[in-house]
Amino acid sequence: MSDLAAFIRGLPKAELHLHIEGSLEPELMFELARRNGVALPFASVEEVRAAYAFSNLQDFLDIYYQGAGVLITERDFHDLAMAYFRRVATDGCRHVELFFDPQTHTDRGIAFSTVMDGLLAGMAEAERDLGITSSLILCFLRHLDEAAAFATLKAAEPYLDRIVGVGLDSSEVGHPPLKFARVFAAARAKGLKLVAHAGEEGPPEYVWEALDILDVDRIDHGNRALEDPALVKRLVHDGKTLTVCPLSNLKLRVVPSLKDHPLRTMLDLGLKATINSDDPAYFGGYLGQNWIQAADALELSLAELITLARNSFTGSFLPPEAVARHLAAIDAYAEGSSPYS
Ligand code: ADE
Ligand code: ZN
Repeated sequence: MSDLAAFIRGLPKAELHLHIEGSLEPELMFELARRNGVALPFASVEEVRAAYAFSNLQDFLDIYYQGAGVLITERDFHDLAMAYFRRVATDGCRHVELFFDPQTHTDRGIAFSTVMDGLLAGMAEAERDLGITSSLILCFLRHLDEAAAFATLKAAEPYLDRIVGVGLDSSEVGHPPLKFARVFAAARAKGLKLVAHAGEEGPPEYVWEALDILDVDRIDHGNRALEDPALVKRLVHDGKTLTVCPLSNLKLRVVPSLKDHPLRTMLDLGLKATINSDDPAYFGGYLGQNWIQAADALELSLAELITLARNSFTGSFLPPEAVARHLAAIDAYAEGSSPYS
């Protein structure tokens, strides 16, 4: 391992943009398909991996929803979560705010409680055995309608003390944040935090809507905000966290290469960017790999890496005492261990 990779792996960090269904590795997909008697349209793990060549977000989403079809039982959701946590424990990840897409499962006849109980069991085990804390963000699928989002919020009612916030994901273009204004207002009234994917493929106007109409606490992705200087100014002024996903952006052709990735520009502009993996099983790398490859391609400085690590905690929904503890751990680590000194 290079000095830079070793430094990054040891740096305390949080992941704020991770779709748990996007951590389903082909090996586990096959195991669950066998366990549950689900037919897959692929003959082998290699064939599945070969299918992971995407031209855009929709290409990926089609295969991602198909893959999620093997998740049937509470144990499946537990195993999915634990496989992810075991993997990021080796990346120096201390805290995760994970997205889940209940409609992908309830629309197939899986009970909301099956999804929740399985994920919560995995999260409790990860905290006990790996020392990784986590919380859940329920995402509404934006290609579905407002009524379906309201029904999902209602199904979540018994679990609201175990869900930190709601988000908005799936096909962005043609499904602006405005479509979910009322359901986000209802979620806010229940005390939930709010986030939304915006500016991944969609225009800067969608980021404005996420801010002005949904009143989100964080923007997921936000790349296209850079096209609008007034929007950048607003995001900087509000100190709004962007959950940026370098390898996802590369795989979904949001950027032509990692060297062209806007992460460094975002930091230079004063934007509060973070590094995340999005759907690591599909995009070729977990949290640590996103950090290492971005740092390498963009030649990020030690100070920039530490800013990114700090942003991952100050942009989280952790209580202030926990944020302070993680920031102190970053400071202690940075003083004692530098690849540059
Ligand atoms: N669902 C899973 N990953 C996503 C992404 N990158 N954008 C929108 N919806 C998603
Ligand atoms: Zn995402």
